[in-house]
Amino acid sequence: GTVVLAYSGGLDTSCILVWLKEQGYDVIAFLANIGQDEDFDEARKKAENLGAKKVFIEDLRAEFVEHFIWPAVQANAVYEDRYLLGTSLARPCISRSLVDVARREKAHFISHGATGKGNDQVRFELTSYALYPEVKIIAPWRIPEFYNRFKGRLDLMEYAEKHGIPVPVTPKAPWSMDANLMHISYESGILEDPKSHAPVDLYLMTKNPEEAPNAPDVLEITFRKGVPVKVTNLKDATSKDAALDIFLYLNEIGGRHGVGRIDIVENRFIGMKSRGIYETPGGTILLQAHLDIETFTMDKEVRRIKQGLSVKFSELVYNGFWYSPECDFVRHCIQKSQENVEGTVQLSVFKGQVYLLGRESPKSLYNEELVSMDKQGDYDPCDASGFIRINAVRLREYHRLQGLSSPK
Ligand code: ARG
Ligand code: SIN
Repeated sequence: GTVVLAYSGGLDTSCILVWLKEQGYDVIAFLANIGQDEDFDEARKKAENLGAKKVFIEDLRAEFVEHFIWPAVQANAVYEDRYLLGTSLARPCISRSLVDVARREKAHFISHGATGKGNDQVRFELTSYALYPEVKIIAPWRIPEFYNRFKGRLDLMEYAEKHGIPVPVTPKAPWSMDANLMHISYESGILEDPKSHAPVDLYLMTKNPEEAPNAPDVLEITFRKGVPVKVTNLKDATSKDAALDIFLYLNEIGGRHGVGRIDIVENRFIGMKSRGIYETPGGTILLQAHLDIETFTMDKEVRRIKQGLSVKFSELVYNGFWYSPECDFVRHCIQKSQENVEGTVQLSVFKGQVYLLGRESPKSLYNEELVSMDKQGDYDPCDASGFIRINAVRLREYHRLQGLSSPK
């Protein structure tokens, strides 16, 4: 049969490619350009040399931003209060395209190099089953004949040597990385000890905040329907208005000032805790900007309901359920909530931080006259006495009946 392999160009998936051939499959290599730093022509040649029947390289960058990152921005998506989901969001985007290739090429099998202990296997496979119900999955890292043969990196290197797979010349970093245009994640290897500090030279997308410029960049970000439609740097008048350009520019600014680094222990869907380090410069700026313009333009009670949906959405994305009825439903609700989320936010980016400076919006629900200490507005202060006394009914009863009306 024919198998489409999610190929990364690295040692693992190169060995998997050759191993699949050894098992008698015709192998099609699929490589997604999702903004990672990679020589794609080189990777194509490499896959061809290893005997891939065909090689598909798809530029998914704009689609990743518009169809996956933008909904996450609208949602203020954050997993376990800190992780902005850079890998989790990329997986359904890559898998959707992978499935397209498999269907087009009439391949019945899909294969990937994710381990049997992680989240990525779940995300790849749930998406594949959802969009291609008849598909068969080959996950070598869960097949005993494979993982018993390749117990460590040395086994892979030896196999590569024997099968003409180019062995990486630069020594591998002692951790595992997943890079795309939204973030880079680092885990495993020397990072597995949760108390060990990350080496200072680990980060590739962001500058150390301690070494960041001593002057901020001041940005103006305009939103429509909860997504950024324009960014302008007030320092040098640089301006971007295409989705991908906006995001890449925010990465550049955030990266320069060391924004969006986190070091966390998180709960994998599979049930174990893992230590991860992430840098998400542009995404972190957008989260702060979006939270601000959203609160400015959204009804208080709608906002509270939407906050619950945000947590739900983040869990669904993390767990690999992007293409599920419940995630579809939640996305629709969130999108509906964003109809009036528009306006412009001014912020400064400085020494690892995002500082909100001001905001304006034609859809603002902020009434300067109503809130002013210096004006009456359409408001009668006497009404507040009743409002407070009614709210106090329950509190007075509770404490009276508990005999606690004057706690010590
Ligand atoms: N722990 C993160 C997540 O589950 C990052 C996973 C990184 N993946 C990788 N293949 N290194 O989303
Ligand atoms: C992997 O297991 O391949 C990486 C880690 C994860 O997916 O959680």
